[in-house]
Amino acid sequence: MKEKVYASIKSIASYVPKNCVSNTDFEKTLDTSDEWIVRRTGIKTRYFASDNETSSSLGYESAKLAIERANLNIDDIDMLICATLSPDYLTMPSNAVIISHKLGIHNKPAFDISSACSGFIYLLSLAKAYIESKMYKNILIVGAEKASSVLDFSDRGTCVLFGDGAGAAVISQTNDKNKSILDVNISANGKYSELLGTPRTTNKLQMKGNEIFKLAIKTLASDVGEILSKNNLSSKDISFFIPHQANLRIINAVGEIIDIEPSKIVLTVQKYGNTSAASIPMAIDEIYNDKRLKNGDLLLLDAFGGGLTWGSSLLYFNGN
Ligand code: UT7
Repeated sequence: MKEKVYASIKSIASYVPKNCVSNTDFEKTLDTSDEWIVRRTGIKTRYFASDNETSSSLGYESAKLAIERANLNIDDIDMLICATLSPDYLTMPSNAVIISHKLGIHNKPAFDISSACSGFIYLLSLAKAYIESKMYKNILIVGAEKASSVLDFSDRGTCVLFGDGAGAAVISQTNDKNKSILDVNISANGKYSELLGTPRTTNKLQMKGNEIFKLAIKTLASDVGEILSKNNLSSKDISFFIPHQANLRIINAVGEIIDIEPSKIVLTVQKYGNTSAASIPMAIDEIYNDKRLKNGDLLLLDAFGGGLTWGSSLLYFNGN
Protein backbone atom coordinates (compact mmCIF):
# COMPACT_ATOMS: atom_id res chain seq x y z
CA MET A 1 0.00 0.00 0.00
CA LYS A 2 1.27 3.48 -0.84
CA GLU A 3 2.16 5.54 2.24
CA LYS A 4 0.00 8.60 2.83
CA VAL A 5 1.87 11.88 3.19
CA TYR A 6 0.67 14.98 4.98
CA ALA A 7 1.47 18.69 4.74
CA SER A 8 2.99 20.45 7.72
CA ILE A 9 3.86 24.06 8.60
CA LYS A 10 7.65 24.01 9.07
CA SER A 11 8.24 27.70 9.69
CA ILE A 12 6.60 31.07 10.09
CA ALA A 13 8.01 34.57 9.61
CA SER A 14 6.84 38.11 9.04
CA TYR A 15 8.04 41.56 8.13
CA VAL A 16 6.63 44.90 9.23
CA PRO A 17 7.69 48.18 7.59
CA LYS A 18 9.19 50.89 9.82
CA ASN A 19 6.75 53.79 9.55
CA CYS A 20 4.18 53.63 12.37
CA VAL A 21 1.05 55.73 11.83
CA SER A 22 -1.27 56.45 14.76
CA ASN A 23 -4.96 57.27 14.71
CA THR A 24 -4.21 60.82 15.74
CA ASP A 25 -2.11 61.20 12.58
CA PHE A 26 -5.36 60.74 10.60
CA GLU A 27 -7.11 63.40 12.71
CA LYS A 28 -4.92 65.99 10.95
CA THR A 29 -6.37 65.27 7.49
CA LEU A 30 -9.75 63.59 8.04
CA ASP A 31 -12.98 64.09 9.98
CA THR A 32 -12.16 61.20 12.31
CA SER A 33 -10.89 60.58 15.83
CA ASP A 34 -8.74 58.16 17.77
CA GLU A 35 -11.79 57.51 19.95
CA TRP A 36 -14.00 56.49 16.96
CA ILE A 37 -11.37 54.24 15.37
CA VAL A 38 -10.55 52.45 18.64
CA ARG A 39 -14.20 52.03 19.65
CA ARG A 40 -15.39 50.73 16.26
CA THR A 41 -12.34 48.67 15.21
CA GLY A 42 -9.83 48.23 18.05
CA ILE A 43 -7.09 49.65 15.80
CA LYS A 44 -4.57 52.03 17.43
CA THR A 45 -1.68 52.00 14.97
CA ARG A 46 -0.71 50.54 11.59
CA TYR A 47 2.57 50.54 9.63
CA PHE A 48 2.98 51.94 6.13
CA ALA A 49 5.74 51.00 3.70
CA SER A 50 8.02 53.69 2.29
CA ASP A 51 7.93 54.88 -1.34
CA ASN A 52 10.75 52.56 -2.33
CA GLU A 53 9.16 49.49 -0.77
CA THR A 54 6.55 47.34 -2.56
CA SER A 55 4.42 44.40 -1.50
CA SER A 56 6.97 42.06 -3.11
CA SER A 57 9.87 43.64 -1.21
CA LEU A 58 7.98 43.18 2.09
CA GLY A 59 7.11 39.64 1.02
CA TYR A 60 10.75 38.92 0.16
CA GLU A 61 11.90 39.86 3.68
CA SER A 62 9.39 37.51 5.31
CA ALA A 63 10.08 34.72 2.79
CA LYS A 64 13.85 34.84 3.36
CA LEU A 65 13.35 34.42 7.11
CA ALA A 66 10.79 31.62 6.62
CA ILE A 67 13.32 29.57 4.60
CA GLU A 68 16.04 30.16 7.22
CA ARG A 69 13.70 29.13 10.05
CA ALA A 70 12.71 25.96 8.16
CA ASN A 71 16.44 25.04 7.99
CA LEU A 72 16.18 24.62 4.24
CA ASN A 73 18.35 25.74 1.33
CA ILE A 74 16.97 27.81 -1.52
CA ASP A 75 17.22 24.76 -3.81
CA ASP A 76 14.88 22.81 -1.54
CA ILE A 77 11.95 25.10 -2.36
CA ASP A 78 9.81 23.47 -5.08
CA MET A 79 7.29 26.28 -5.59
CA LEU A 80 6.39 29.76 -4.36
CA ILE A 81 2.83 31.11 -4.20
CA CYS A 82 1.96 34.63 -3.11
CA ALA A 83 -1.41 36.06 -2.07
CA THR A 84 -1.87 39.81 -2.43
CA LEU A 85 -4.44 42.46 -3.26
CA SER A 86 -1.72 45.08 -3.77
CA PRO A 87 0.74 43.51 -6.26
CA ASP A 88 3.71 45.45 -7.66
CA TYR A 89 2.30 45.19 -11.21
CA LEU A 90 -1.26 45.44 -12.46
CA THR A 91 -1.44 41.93 -13.95
CA MET A 92 2.13 40.70 -14.53
CA PRO A 93 4.75 39.77 -13.58
CA SER A 94 3.39 38.22 -10.40
CA ASN A 95 4.80 39.08 -7.00
CA ALA A 96 5.70 35.40 -6.67
CA VAL A 97 8.15 35.46 -9.58
CA ILE A 98 9.71 38.70 -8.32
CA ILE A 99 10.17 37.27 -4.82
CA SER A 100 11.52 33.96 -6.24
CA HIS A 101 14.09 35.79 -8.32
CA LYS A 102 15.26 37.92 -5.38
CA LEU A 103 15.60 34.81 -3.23
CA GLY A 104 17.67 33.08 -5.92
CA ILE A 105 15.08 30.39 -6.67
CA HIS A 106 15.54 29.34 -10.29
CA ASN A 107 13.23 27.52 -12.69
CA LYS A 108 10.56 26.67 -10.17
CA PRO A 109 6.85 27.44 -10.49
CA ALA A 110 5.71 30.74 -8.99
CA PHE A 111 2.32 32.45 -9.17
CA ASP A 112 -0.01 34.81 -7.31
CA ILE A 113 -3.53 34.18 -6.15
CA SER A 114 -6.29 36.75 -5.73
CA SER A 115 -8.52 35.98 -2.77
CA ALA A 116 -8.12 39.20 -0.77
CA CYS A 117 -8.02 38.84 3.02
CA SER A 118 -8.65 35.08 2.80
CA GLY A 119 -5.40 34.71 0.83
CA PHE A 120 -3.39 32.85 3.46
CA ILE A 121 -6.09 30.20 4.00
CA TYR A 122 -6.36 29.71 0.22
CA LEU A 123 -2.55 29.36 0.10
CA LEU A 124 -2.67 26.69 2.80
CA SER A 125 -5.26 24.71 0.86
CA LEU A 126 -3.13 24.82 -2.30
CA ALA A 127 0.09 23.88 -0.51
CA LYS A 128 -1.69 21.02 1.30
CA ALA A 129 -3.13 19.65 -1.96
CA TYR A 130 0.17 19.84 -3.88
CA ILE A 131 2.05 18.13 -1.05
CA GLU A 132 -0.51 15.42 -0.34
CA SER A 133 -0.60 14.61 -4.07
CA LYS A 134 3.22 14.13 -3.76
CA MET A 135 3.85 16.62 -6.56
CA TYR A 136 6.07 18.81 -4.35
CA LYS A 137 7.82 18.50 -0.98
CA ASN A 138 8.48 22.08 0.13
CA ILE A 139 6.28 25.03 -0.80
CA LEU A 140 6.90 28.63 0.23
CA ILE A 141 3.68 30.60 0.73
CA VAL A 142 3.68 34.37 1.17
CA GLY A 143 0.95 36.87 2.05
CA ALA A 144 2.27 40.35 1.22
CA GLU A 145 0.49 43.69 1.17
CA LYS A 146 1.25 47.31 0.53
CA ALA A 147 -2.39 48.12 1.22
CA SER A 148 -1.47 51.81 1.45
CA SER A 149 -0.86 51.71 -2.34
CA VAL A 150 -4.57 51.02 -3.00
CA LEU A 151 -6.11 53.15 -0.23
CA ASP A 152 -8.13 56.29 -0.90
CA PHE A 153 -6.78 58.61 1.80
CA SER A 154 -9.83 60.85 1.51
CA ASP A 155 -12.21 57.99 2.48
CA ARG A 156 -12.34 57.81 6.27
CA GLY A 157 -14.44 54.64 6.10
CA THR A 158 -11.55 52.60 4.64
CA CYS A 159 -8.16 54.30 4.90
CA VAL A 160 -7.93 54.10 8.71
CA LEU A 161 -8.54 50.34 8.68
CA PHE A 162 -5.65 48.89 6.70
CA GLY A 163 -1.90 48.50 7.16
CA ASP A 164 1.12 47.13 5.26
CA GLY A 165 3.12 44.00 6.07
CA ALA A 166 4.00 40.49 5.01
CA GLY A 167 4.04 36.97 6.38
CA ALA A 168 5.45 33.72 5.01
CA ALA A 169 5.53 30.03 5.83
CA VAL A 170 7.23 26.92 4.49
CA ILE A 171 4.83 24.00 4.08
CA SER A 172 6.60 20.64 3.88
CA GLN A 173 5.88 16.96 3.57
CA THR A 174 5.56 14.85 6.73
CA ASN A 175 4.48 11.28 7.51
CA ASP A 176 3.02 12.23 10.88
CA LYS A 177 -0.64 13.26 10.86
CA ASN A 178 -0.23 14.72 14.35
CA LYS A 179 2.17 17.31 12.92
CA SER A 180 0.07 18.20 9.92
CA ILE A 181 -2.44 20.64 8.50
CA LEU A 182 -5.53 18.66 9.46
CA ASP A 183 -8.06 20.49 7.33
CA VAL A 184 -8.71 23.61 5.26
CA ASN A 185 -12.19 24.91 4.36
CA ILE A 186 -12.34 27.53 1.62
CA SER A 187 -15.33 29.08 -0.08
CA ALA A 188 -16.59 32.12 -2.00
CA ASN A 189 -19.79 33.85 -3.08
CA GLY A 190 -19.60 36.33 -5.97
CA LYS A 191 -23.11 37.58 -5.17
CA TYR A 192 -21.42 39.98 -2.76
CA SER A 193 -18.62 41.12 -5.09
CA GLU A 194 -19.88 44.71 -5.07
CA LEU A 195 -19.32 45.09 -1.31
CA LEU A 196 -15.53 45.23 -1.40
CA GLY A 197 -13.22 45.79 -4.33
CA THR A 198 -10.73 47.92 -6.25
CA PRO A 199 -12.59 49.17 -9.37
CA ARG A 200 -10.49 49.84 -12.48
CA THR A 201 -11.96 53.33 -12.60
CA THR A 202 -10.19 54.39 -9.39
CA ASN A 203 -7.73 51.58 -8.60
CA LYS A 204 -8.59 52.29 -4.97
CA LEU A 205 -10.19 50.06 -2.39
CA GLN A 206 -13.90 50.65 -1.82
CA MET A 207 -15.95 48.90 0.83
CA LYS A 208 -19.49 48.80 2.18
CA GLY A 209 -18.11 48.18 5.65
CA ASN A 210 -21.28 47.71 7.63
CA GLU A 211 -22.74 45.08 5.27
CA ILE A 212 -19.42 43.21 5.25
CA PHE A 213 -19.32 43.42 9.04
CA LYS A 214 -22.64 41.60 9.47
CA LEU A 215 -21.88 38.98 6.81
CA ALA A 216 -18.43 38.38 8.31
CA ILE A 217 -19.69 37.43 11.77
CA LYS A 218 -22.41 35.11 10.46
CA THR A 219 -20.22 33.41 7.84
CA LEU A 220 -17.15 33.02 10.05
CA ALA A 221 -19.07 31.62 13.01
CA SER A 222 -20.72 28.96 10.86
CA ASP A 223 -17.53 28.16 8.92
CA VAL A 224 -15.46 27.72 12.08
CA GLY A 225 -18.22 25.67 13.72
CA GLU A 226 -18.31 23.43 10.66
CA ILE A 227 -14.55 22.74 10.49
CA LEU A 228 -14.46 21.92 14.22
CA SER A 229 -17.39 19.50 14.09
CA LYS A 230 -16.14 17.90 10.84
CA ASN A 231 -12.92 17.05 12.69
CA ASN A 232 -14.66 15.98 15.92
CA LEU A 233 -13.02 18.82 17.83
CA SER A 234 -14.36 21.56 20.07
CA SER A 235 -12.99 25.00 20.83
CA LYS A 236 -11.62 23.51 24.11
CA ASP A 237 -9.14 21.44 22.04
CA ILE A 238 -7.65 24.52 20.37
CA SER A 239 -4.38 26.03 21.62
CA PHE A 240 -4.75 29.32 19.71
CA PHE A 241 -7.53 30.89 17.65
CA ILE A 242 -5.87 33.09 15.01
CA PRO A 243 -8.51 35.02 13.10
CA HIS A 244 -8.00 37.47 10.25
CA GLN A 245 -7.36 40.82 11.94
CA ALA A 246 -9.97 43.15 10.41
CA ASN A 247 -11.95 44.41 13.38
CA LEU A 248 -11.76 43.59 17.10
CA ARG A 249 -15.57 43.54 17.31
CA ILE A 250 -15.80 40.87 14.58
CA ILE A 251 -13.09 38.78 16.27
CA ASN A 252 -14.73 39.01 19.71
CA ALA A 253 -18.21 38.26 18.35
CA VAL A 254 -16.98 35.11 16.57
CA GLY A 255 -14.93 34.13 19.65
CA GLU A 256 -18.05 34.35 21.80
CA ILE A 257 -20.19 32.34 19.38
CA ILE A 258 -17.65 29.50 19.18
CA ASP A 259 -17.10 29.79 22.94
CA ILE A 260 -13.32 30.02 22.96
CA GLU A 261 -11.37 31.20 25.99
CA PRO A 262 -10.39 34.85 25.36
CA SER A 263 -6.76 34.14 26.35
CA LYS A 264 -6.51 31.77 23.35
CA ILE A 265 -7.45 34.46 20.83
CA VAL A 266 -4.43 36.03 19.12
CA LEU A 267 -4.86 39.76 18.56
CA THR A 268 -2.63 42.02 16.50
CA VAL A 269 -5.27 44.28 14.95
CA GLN A 270 -4.59 47.01 17.54
CA LYS A 271 -0.96 47.28 16.37
CA TYR A 272 -1.05 46.47 12.65
CA GLY A 273 -4.64 47.14 11.50
CA ASN A 274 -5.96 44.97 8.69
CA THR A 275 -3.01 43.71 6.61
CA SER A 276 -5.26 41.55 4.41
CA ALA A 277 -3.48 38.41 3.12
CA ALA A 278 -0.59 39.06 5.52
CA SER A 279 -2.66 39.32 8.68
CA ILE A 280 -2.83 35.64 9.68
CA PRO A 281 0.86 34.77 9.12
CA MET A 282 1.83 38.02 10.89
CA ALA A 283 -0.36 37.00 13.85
CA ILE A 284 1.10 33.46 13.96
CA ASP A 285 4.58 35.00 13.90
CA GLU A 286 3.65 37.31 16.76
CA ILE A 287 3.11 34.35 19.12
CA TYR A 288 6.14 32.56 17.64
CA ASN A 289 8.37 35.56 18.40
CA ASP A 290 7.08 36.03 21.94
CA LYS A 291 7.59 32.28 22.54
CA ARG A 292 3.96 31.49 23.31
CA LEU A 293 3.69 29.16 20.29
CA LYS A 294 4.99 25.63 20.90
CA ASN A 295 5.42 22.64 18.62
CA GLY A 296 2.29 20.52 18.62
CA ASP A 297 -0.04 23.43 19.40
CA LEU A 298 -3.33 23.09 17.55
CA LEU A 299 -4.21 26.29 15.69
CA LEU A 300 -7.60 27.35 14.40
CA LEU A 301 -7.46 30.00 11.64
CA ASP A 302 -10.27 31.92 9.97
CA ALA A 303 -10.48 34.66 7.36
CA PHE A 304 -12.96 36.69 5.39
CA GLY A 305 -12.50 39.16 2.55
CA GLY A 306 -13.34 40.68 -0.80
CA GLY A 307 -15.00 38.45 -3.35
CA LEU A 308 -16.53 37.53 -1.01
CA THR A 309 -14.12 34.81 -0.02
CA TRP A 310 -13.71 33.06 3.31
CA GLY A 311 -12.05 30.07 4.88
CA SER A 312 -10.77 28.33 7.98
CA SER A 313 -8.07 25.84 8.85
CA LEU A 314 -7.07 23.47 11.65
CA LEU A 315 -3.37 22.72 11.87
CA TYR A 316 -0.69 21.55 14.26
CA PHE A 317 2.30 23.88 14.46
CA ASN A 318 5.49 22.00 13.59
CA GLY A 319 8.02 24.74 13.18
CA ASN A 320 10.47 24.73 16.08
O1 UT7 B 1 -10.84 42.42 5.80
C1 UT7 B 1 -11.85 42.34 4.86
C2 UT7 B 1 -13.19 42.46 5.40
N1 UT7 B 1 -13.44 43.77 5.95
C3 UT7 B 1 -14.00 43.85 7.12
O2 UT7 B 1 -14.22 42.85 7.74
C4 UT7 B 1 -14.47 45.20 7.59
C5 UT7 B 1 -15.84 45.07 8.14
N2 UT7 B 1 -16.45 46.31 8.57
C6 UT7 B 1 -16.04 47.01 9.64
O3 UT7 B 1 -15.05 46.70 10.26
C7 UT7 B 1 -16.94 48.15 10.11
O4 UT7 B 1 -18.14 48.11 9.38
C8 UT7 B 1 -16.29 49.54 9.95
C9 UT7 B 1 -15.19 49.72 10.96
C10 UT7 B 1 -15.76 49.71 8.53
C11 UT7 B 1 -17.33 50.63 10.21
O5 UT7 B 1 -17.94 50.46 11.48
P1 UT7 B 1 -19.54 50.48 11.64
O6 UT7 B 1 -19.80 50.34 13.07
O7 UT7 B 1 -20.09 49.42 10.70
O8 UT7 B 1 -19.90 51.93 11.17
P2 UT7 B 1 -20.79 52.41 9.91
O9 UT7 B 1 -20.11 52.06 8.62
O10 UT7 B 1 -22.19 51.95 10.11
O11 UT7 B 1 -20.70 53.96 10.11
C12 UT7 B 1 -21.23 54.61 11.24
C13 UT7 B 1 -20.91 56.09 11.14
C14 UT7 B 1 -21.25 56.70 9.80
O12 UT7 B 1 -21.77 58.00 10.03
P3 UT7 B 1 -23.33 58.26 9.97
O13 UT7 B 1 -23.76 57.86 8.60
O14 UT7 B 1 -23.94 57.41 11.05
O15 UT7 B 1 -23.42 59.74 10.23
C15 UT7 B 1 -19.91 56.80 9.11
O16 UT7 B 1 -19.88 57.84 8.16
O17 UT7 B 1 -19.50 56.30 11.33
C16 UT7 B 1 -19.00 57.12 10.27
N3 UT7 B 1 -17.61 56.81 10.01
C17 UT7 B 1 -16.59 57.39 10.68
N4 UT7 B 1 -16.57 58.33 11.64
C18 UT7 B 1 -15.38 58.70 12.12
C19 UT7 B 1 -17.08 55.91 9.13
N5 UT7 B 1 -15.74 55.91 9.21
C20 UT7 B 1 -15.40 56.82 10.16
C21 UT7 B 1 -14.19 57.28 10.69
N6 UT7 B 1 -14.21 58.21 11.68
N7 UT7 B 1 -12.98 56.79 10.27
